[in-house]
Amino acid sequence: MIEELLTKNKLWSAARKAAKPDYFERLSKLQRPEYLWIGCSDSRVPANVIAGLEPGEVFVHRNVANLIHPTDLNMLSVVEYAVHQLGVKHIIICGHYGCGGIRAAVSGERFGLIDHWLQPVRDVSSTCFECRESGGWSEADLDKLCEASIIEQVERLARTPTLRAAWQEMKDVSIHGWVYGLKDGLLSDLGCTVTRDRFAASPPCKSPSTAPMAT
Ligand code: CO
Repeated sequence: MIEELLTKNKLWSAARKAAKPDYFERLSKLQRPEYLWIGCSDSRVPANVIAGLEPGEVFVHRNVANLIHPTDLNMLSVVEYAVHQLGVKHIIICGHYGCGGIRAAVSGERFGLIDHWLQPVRDVSSTCFECRESGGWSEADLDKLCEASIIEQVERLARTPTLRAAWQEMKDVSIHGWVYGLKDGLLSDLGCTVTRDRFAASPPCKSPSTAPMAT
């Protein structure tokens, strides 16, 4: 019953206030999270719960298969605010084994709009793995594709103007790629962290010339 959610909320609020009388008063005045979490919408991968973080400790954006689309204004707005206003130190892109989005992307079936959303996963699959026909992906293959996609999304985020501007301004923010195991509840670091050092090694191109274009 949906009313149970409201009842549970009242109990939760009362328990928090009993433990710390100023809990909500303090939280309502300020949020200063050190982490931005970009994860899958899957109900089994709630950022706060699996990372053991309290309200106020992590800024969160979730979408199907935790993808970075360079034209996604929702995601870009979240990243811009987190990096430039909240000053988060770490961005965690977290995927998970057994992701339905990853499976759907290479299933060969047509699902509709989501097929467009999942294109970056197919792009990774075509460059990193032998192309398989529908039904040919084993669980182990899908796990590898899941990891490869997370690593690619870290790279995509590192290339956005938002992150490059942050590094140019010497902001201390890093992007990490993590994967979560539904079967054991454990997070693993995929070792693909990108820091400001990347920017120093590869500064952006000069501004485009202001000379009129030849017609
Ligand atoms: Co998923």
